[in-house]
Amino acid sequence: MSAPALSHSDPEPSVAELIAARPHLAMHAFDGLVLEGVPLARIVAELGTPVWVYSAGTMRARLASLTAALAGLDAHIHYAVKANDHLAVLRVFAGGGAGADVVSEGELRRARQAGIAPGHIVFSGVGKTEAELRMALAEGIYQINIESPAELALISAVATSMGRTARVALRINPDVDAGTHAKITTGKAENKFGVPYEQAAALYAHAASLPGVEPVGLALHIGSQILAMAPYRAAFARAAELVRTLRAQGHTVSRMDCGGGLGIGYRDEPGGSPAALAGAMRAAFGAMDLTLMVEPGRWLVGPAGLLLASVVLVKGEDRFVVIDAAMNDLIRPAMYDAWHGIVPLAAGNAVGAERLVDIVGPVCETGDTFATGRAMPPLRPGARLAILDAGAYGAVMSSTYNARPRAAAVLIDGTPKLITPRQAIEDLWSSEIVP
Ligand code: LLP
Repeated sequence: MSAPALSHSDPEPSVAELIAARPHLAMHAFDGLVLEGVPLARIVAELGTPVWVYSAGTMRARLASLTAALAGLDAHIHYAVKANDHLAVLRVFAGGGAGADVVSEGELRRARQAGIAPGHIVFSGVGKTEAELRMALAEGIYQINIESPAELALISAVATSMGRTARVALRINPDVDAGTHAKITTGKAENKFGVPYEQAAALYAHAASLPGVEPVGLALHIGSQILAMAPYRAAFARAAELVRTLRAQGHTVSRMDCGGGLGIGYRDEPGGSPAALAGAMRAAFGAMDLTLMVEPGRWLVGPAGLLLASVVLVKGEDRFVVIDAAMNDLIRPAMYDAWHGIVPLAAGNAVGAERLVDIVGPVCETGDTFATGRAMPPLRPGARLAILDAGAYGAVMSSTYNARPRAAAVLIDGTPKLITPRQAIEDLWSSEIVP
């Protein structure tokens, strides 16, 4: 099965279809759009816009369903902190039994700050610095994924100088095409990630000979927003073959980190299936006596987050709806041509004759466009909108471009709780030094 091809000629889902496909959302006649039972208009009335809103219940439900799919395998979930690194979000996932996949000192310390034990942390990434490796070793984390001979030499030296042994997995580049956007594909030979497949066995043997290093297994991560299973199956098959080769050569291989990348349905395409992923893992590794790992980010947190915005004005003979959220808040449309559902908050706004509009932000770039030619009910200044599926790679990729302060964030966990106040304008320059 390959990823369903989307083109601008495919009919887009209606507002009603977008809501119906998302169990955590509902449109109430009086309260308007509700998330986990909380009317979003109430949050906007209190905090203004733009504002991020996350549903803890949705995160927990998704983690539970992934956990259930992996039952029977010796498999552990390490949530990819980069998708949404808020301490409150990390707490929700840790509370549901997930560990963390981190890629920097900042993420490692965030995970620790959120109460995730070192034994549940994996450190990935193509350019870990000596200081970062030193810190990871001092913390005694579960595993460090090594991506190059240079990094292997460095970690051996650092671990030896600290009198420690680094448990490392070798991240292989399986040279498979994940069929996703070019900017987020990572498992092809020309990508910067991992060790070339053909060199991996020799490097594993080298790792086993180095002081301060204990190779424990393999890792891979072929890309993000993957909707088809074939790339996973191909990558897992290559990894399993390498495990057999290494074992035949007398090496111990006890762990297999299968990476993240499971996609979600942003438009009307079916999202990635945990059961199918677990099935592919079982087929490749089920009989190999391996401890398995996955590192999902987007699949766990993406659907759980919304970005709420207000219409500032409408211009260009009603073609451009200018809202108060922008590419500095959510950069995915500008960066990856990503499609996000957009839904009015008020029930009254969700009906009525639709017209095609461009929904744009106020930043001075044409790329600051959330939707082009989108069928929407009439939107007047002051109307509120929710940009859907913004829980992953939203706030974490936001900036203060155009001197726009960072938006507030709310976590709904039974009741809504403020988890990040809106950045004050003065805070934009409070850490600057004018010589
Ligand atoms: N593990 C590793 C080593 C990764 O590099 C990533 C993501 C993940 C796990 C988690 O992948 P996920 O399950 O979330 O797909 N900013 C882009 C996505 C970049 C993904 C980078 N690596 C976007 O907004 O689409």
